[in-house]
Amino acid sequence: AIKAVVLAGGSGTRLWPLSRQQLPKQFLRLNGEESMLGATISRLSPLVDRKDAWVITGEAHATGEAFSELEGLNQILEPCGRNTAPAVAVSAAVLSDFSEEDPVIIVLPADHLITKKEAFQACLQQAVEVAQAGHLVTFGLVPKTPEIGFGYVQAEQSEGTIHKVMRFVEKPNLAAAKQMLEEGGYYWNSGMFVWKGSVILEEIKEHLPDVWQVVERMRARWQAGERWQEVVRAEFANMPDISIDYGVMEKSSRVMLVEADIGWSDVGSWDAVHEIARHDENGNDISGNVLAIDCKNSLLRSEGRLLAAVGLEDIIVVETPDAILLAKSGDSQRVKEIVDALKKSN
Ligand code: GDD
Ligand code: MG
Repeated sequence: AIKAVVLAGGSGTRLWPLSRQQLPKQFLRLNGEESMLGATISRLSPLVDRKDAWVITGEAHATGEAFSELEGLNQILEPCGRNTAPAVAVSAAVLSDFSEEDPVIIVLPADHLITKKEAFQACLQQAVEVAQAGHLVTFGLVPKTPEIGFGYVQAEQSEGTIHKVMRFVEKPNLAAAKQMLEEGGYYWNSGMFVWKGSVILEEIKEHLPDVWQVVERMRARWQAGERWQEVVRAEFANMPDISIDYGVMEKSSRVMLVEADIGWSDVGSWDAVHEIARHDENGNDISGNVLAIDCKNSLLRSEGRLLAAVGLEDIIVVETPDAILLAKSGDSQRVKEIVDALKKSN
């Protein structure tokens, strides 16, 4: 059986002021009728049926503003955020223990954009086969810039599009990222993974004993008859805070990479949104209550009040009920500085 787990517990602050703690990026309808989470689940079909797709996210989201985006989906709820390794571990345990066979699990971030759906499905098919043979499978993207927010994967140069992974470097510093680009043979890690439930749990046992200990305790409790949802709620806070990339992917020796030319973007900034959005003939991305006259290459969004602009070029404006972002195109990564400054002043 093939199952999917969508990781949807992150706080995604880079699209402030639209993305907030209460309603982070994965629940936003950035580019159409579906939220990013909804689109993530839709694009799994027909390989994975909706009934075999699970979402793991924070408990607060399931009752809060994101409720309507989560309704009707299989859910695993975390009482607190512990980054991705505990989320992967708990979901693998739940899906394995309550399945008849050892499932192949596709793990997907909830907040990425993929434009080539058929190519994506073909990559998943390949990855599922490699995972059946007992590997941890990751997807590699051709790196364009020495981005420091990504993981880098060095793959053995072999024929075809499936390679053995030599080295996995999560979020290098800029000098190291530049060096890897120069050296060649490295891919960006997409953050999507495929593995058998039993295999990822073995790797967690080996490399993350603190996580494994909590998993074992949870399993003992639900095997003794307690409801697994209650067990997760009671035990989850005992997990350490660590990502699957640092915790397992950097350390494991059984990682394989599938090259993925799938039109991928992690939509990590307003500039990235602008790049992928539908443009009008002047290169603008305009949505909501906006009147724009003689504007060029600008992103203008308003949720409420009329946003009227004249003569703007290369500007980002995002209006929400309690905050307005104004930025120069190309500077939108620096929204993080705004969010940090706000956190400090609160
Ligand atoms: N359930 C749950 N709980 N999900 C979480 C948590 C958590 O505590 N923390 C993060 N997530 C979700 C996020 O919502 C997102 O969908 C996914 O897990 C990845 O987390 P990010 O915080 O966005 O990771 P990242 O972007 O820093 O890095 C990862 O993705 C890059 C590509 O975008 C890594 O895998 C990198 O290696 C990779 O290059
Ligand atoms: Mg991310």
